[in-house]
Amino acid sequence: MARTLIPTDALAAVVHKTVTGLLGADYADVDPQVRRSAHADLQADLAMSLARRLKQAPRAIAQRIADAIPTGAASDLVDAVEVAGPGFLNVKLKDEWLADAAMAAARDERLGVAVAATPERIVLDYSHPNVAKEMHVGHLRSTVIGDALARLLEWRGHTVIRQNHIGDWGTPFGMLIEHLIDLGDEQAGRELAMGELGLFYKAARRKFDEDPAFADRARKRVVALQGGDAPTLERWRVLVDLSVRYFESVYERLGITLRREDLCGESSYNDRLAPLARESSESGYAKRSEGALCVFPAGFKNKEGQPLPLILQKSDGGFGYASTDLAAIRYRLMELHATRILYVVGAPQAQHLSMVFTVAQEVGWLAPPARAEHVAFGSVLGTDKRMYRSRSGDTVRLVDLLDEAVDRAAAAVAEKSPELDAASRAEVARILAMGSIKYADLSNDRVKDYVFDLDRMVSFEGNSAGYLQYAYVRTKSIARKAGASSPPGAIRVQEVAERSLTMELLSFGAAVRSVEETLEPHRLAHYLYALALAFTAFWDACPVLRSDVPADVRASRLALVELTGRTLARGLALLGIEVPERM
Ligand code: ARG
Repeated sequence: MARTLIPTDALAAVVHKTVTGLLGADYADVDPQVRRSAHADLQADLAMSLARRLKQAPRAIAQRIADAIPTGAASDLVDAVEVAGPGFLNVKLKDEWLADAAMAAARDERLGVAVAATPERIVLDYSHPNVAKEMHVGHLRSTVIGDALARLLEWRGHTVIRQNHIGDWGTPFGMLIEHLIDLGDEQAGRELAMGELGLFYKAARRKFDEDPAFADRARKRVVALQGGDAPTLERWRVLVDLSVRYFESVYERLGITLRREDLCGESSYNDRLAPLARESSESGYAKRSEGALCVFPAGFKNKEGQPLPLILQKSDGGFGYASTDLAAIRYRLMELHATRILYVVGAPQAQHLSMVFTVAQEVGWLAPPARAEHVAFGSVLGTDKRMYRSRSGDTVRLVDLLDEAVDRAAAAVAEKSPELDAASRAEVARILAMGSIKYADLSNDRVKDYVFDLDRMVSFEGNSAGYLQYAYVRTKSIARKAGASSPPGAIRVQEVAERSLTMELLSFGAAVRSVEETLEPHRLAHYLYALALAFTAFWDACPVLRSDVPADVRASRLALVELTGRTLARGLALLGIEVPERM
């Protein structure tokens, strides 16, 4: 694309040029600080920081810049500039520029959003539930957030390598395999396929705690598993496979893009653990501490001020979570050649991951431009503001949660759209339910805890999936009513509501880019909500199909409606949320 269609970018370029023209090339590093404004179309806030650098009054500098920015007939972008408050530059853009940019976006399959200038290889570690354990709501968060990031980063032109780092190894597998053998494949298969993973795990645990003979078998089984005993490995594979099938059924229902080939669980690093321990000990980087082989990344101390270890190899020769994560980060950097690694993992693992990253830097695997980032998220709370649990106090089965969401959505759709036939109603309910669950998660600042409340999630009002999906459906129904005889045409920006809608439409690329940088999907969610609100205001103020609307005005408004529909659908798709065609 030759020129940017994003108003903030276009103005930033003009301000930058003006400032370097006034002050010289020394000021080429100045950030114009352009943003949307409540008082104008845009504002540029650079005068305040420039003032400190030039030791002059901010308002005086702001005025100098304002006078130097080409406006009116001298500019195709800026209509007028005004200095306000302590030195803000309030900018009104030209209607024609907005209209032309919106036209260009409408003609572009990518809606005017460019692909990233430097495409990266991004390893994305997300979802990663644990075999034979319930996939709890925390895993739901990682899955939903991770998948949205995967979609968005791919759309921006990056190569995204999904890694589903499932918990498929470790000492609990001794008791799990013994329990599997006791139950028989058929019964175990039934329990695991039903998503009764919590029950399966708990039953194994209970036997382990209460039955010494079982505990003994379980311990021997761990040794056999680690020793590569073929029949044991065979049982282990059955167990993993049954769980993975359950995970996949959840992915399928939620529309998650993870595939079999993205599985790269803890067990896949088994062969790399001993060599890693050996190398680290030979190089002197790892040290023995109380029998265990440990590394001590700089800057991590416990409460007593002692260096904190990451355990590479336990004193009994076994390997744990930390060894696996070190092998994994090495693999991701040295073999997958990642330039950016993202770990979508709950906030409680912050220190562990930060230690893993530091080790990777200290040994030289992780070096700029490559970087690793913890995409942390808060806990899921119930409406009582405590950890999310079912009424009986158990962790809630994910499948039950999805079923309940569908039930509520079905009731909501039956009330709102009784005219739809039963099959369409069921389909819309499914789209609304899954969209609502995802949107509730994604529209919250991810590092904060969030309250899981199906009553509020499944809604057509406020900042919800239903409201956005409904706005999309409205754009489609307007287009249908307009019909082929009245096609969209050249966009013109005249009314206030047309102007606000156009500003929102052209800000889509900035919202996408901000998620790419901050890894905060709620920025896109909030953008889409603002767009839907602007569309509602436009629809209230600017008649489209009314018979007294002149043909050219109608064609322009239909083009805005269509662009709105495509932007909503694309934005929701980047979040992993579907839209129905009718609702
Ligand atoms: N399976 C782990 C859990 O449920 C999360 C794994 C996160 N990824 C990683 N590379 N450590 O807590």
